[in-house]
Amino acid sequence: MGTDSAPSRRPRRLRRTAAIRDLVQETRLHPADLIAPLFAKDGTGAPTPVGSMPGVARLNLDDLQQEARALAGLGIRGVALFPVTPTERKDPAGSEALNPDCLILRAVRAVKAAAPQLVVFTDLALDPYTTHGHDGVLDAAGTDVDNDATVAILARMAVLHARAGTDFVAPSDMMDGRVDAVRRALDGAGHGGTGILAYSAKFASAYYGPFREAVGSAQAAGTRGLDKRTYQLNPANPREALADAMLDESEGADALMVKPAGPYLDIIAELRRHTLLPLAAYQVSGEYAQIHAAAERGWLDLERCRDESLLAIKRAGADWILTYFAKDVAAALR
Ligand code: PBG
Repeated sequence: MGTDSAPSRRPRRLRRTAAIRDLVQETRLHPADLIAPLFAKDGTGAPTPVGSMPGVARLNLDDLQQEARALAGLGIRGVALFPVTPTERKDPAGSEALNPDCLILRAVRAVKAAAPQLVVFTDLALDPYTTHGHDGVLDAAGTDVDNDATVAILARMAVLHARAGTDFVAPSDMMDGRVDAVRRALDGAGHGGTGILAYSAKFASAYYGPFREAVGSAQAAGTRGLDKRTYQLNPANPREALADAMLDESEGADALMVKPAGPYLDIIAELRRHTLLPLAAYQVSGEYAQIHAAAERGWLDLERCRDESLLAIKRAGADWILTYFAKDVAAALR
């Protein structure tokens, strides 16, 4: 009963000991939730660090294989591969994307040979291959991305990726009708088992900056502020994001993705209520960079911010999290 001033309800009972707190914990991170993005480069050189992403480097295919084995050993189930295309292989049409011996295809085969149990995801978009850094080919005026011409290329890319052994192609281009076109192309080429993880709600975000440094899509464009707002979503528009994601589902996507993750937890939560498909969220390069930058200055605790940022994404409703912290977190969870 207590005295008059004593509360009769005491929520703190559930927080009293570490064991009780563990029993009542509602959300947990697990290595199997995590997908590690990896950058592949050609040649035999040492890893090339990405300046704005401490701990992240572009790896040659031997190092990529070693990293894949290490990640699999830590219980990580998936990797998302991104190629670094040498400038001399880029052109306005991104034709390197359709080279049957291009780096990304060799990277897929290398990872599959090294760690066959890993689920491999590869991006469908032209930005690693175009001199202008856009995700597609430009229209006749050269001022905007030509939707349908780009989709036709992405569909051919998807078939090459599937043939190399990728498990999921991940259209990250935000063109209209791409999921439908990619599904038809895959099925038509006998790759009915290859899945589509659609970057469904991909926002025109400033948080992609460090990634563009990593794959060289920003320098190539010769501009820091590469403007993708005619295809990526306006950060102000949750309804439009949901509508676009629903369209991807109806076109046959096997899983949907929200990107970036941390600043868009509301979109993750809302989409979770609207789809029964697996939902992924991409904690992008800038989210990773800002935690590292603050930690370097001694302003934030790296491990605690890392874990809290990922737990928040999981709590919002993401099943899979693409994060550059994947390896460190999986190691810490052991
Ligand atoms: C390209 C692509 C981007 C990212 C993944 N795929 C960048 C962009 O759209 O410019 C960003 C990932 C990151 O920032 O970590 N289609």
